[in-house]
Amino acid sequence: MPERARKIRVSCVLNGSASSFEAHPMARLLDVLREDLKLTGTKEGCGEGECGACSIEMDGVLVNSCLVPALQAQGAKIRTIEGVAIGESLHAVQQAFIAHGGAQCGICTPGMILAALNLLARHPEPDDAQIREGLSGNLCRCTGYMKIFESVVAAVRRAETGA
Ligand code: FES
Ligand code: FES
Repeated sequence: MPERARKIRVSCVLNGSASSFEAHPMARLLDVLREDLKLTGTKEGCGEGECGACSIEMDGVLVNSCLVPALQAQGAKIRTIEGVAIGESLHAVQQAFIAHGGAQCGICTPGMILAALNLLARHPEPDDAQIREGLSGNLCRCTGYMKIFESVVAAVRRAETGA
């Protein structure tokens, strides 16, 4: 990035609250979140848009924050993993990941959970194929995917039964 590139002020809604930050327009949103805003729940894996570890929601769309320039956050509604729990209570999807072993090293987990939530917003009662498709942009080196899949299935069942 050119040394003389000017920073701009970006205003957005971040995890439900008005937020603003200064950044170079082409700074990676991932870096702004982690380094400037100290929201380190969003992880960096590949840094190339391939692994989904850095997934966040922008205006309801799942995006890889390593590919999003800070400029693009202007006026956007952003949700990161820090915005998923409800007060002190973990979201049902987070609870399911814990209960069903969906998280091991945890690098992929925030992105997986955002991907699962994004899927459930689009398909509240997804079938197996929709769950697989919804998680297909997120890579995991640890779990072999089955436990992640089972975690999402459990969260869906729980939502269906109200348990
Ligand atoms: S770190 Fe962004 S997709 Fe891998
Ligand atoms: S739990 Fe380690 S990469 Fe998925």
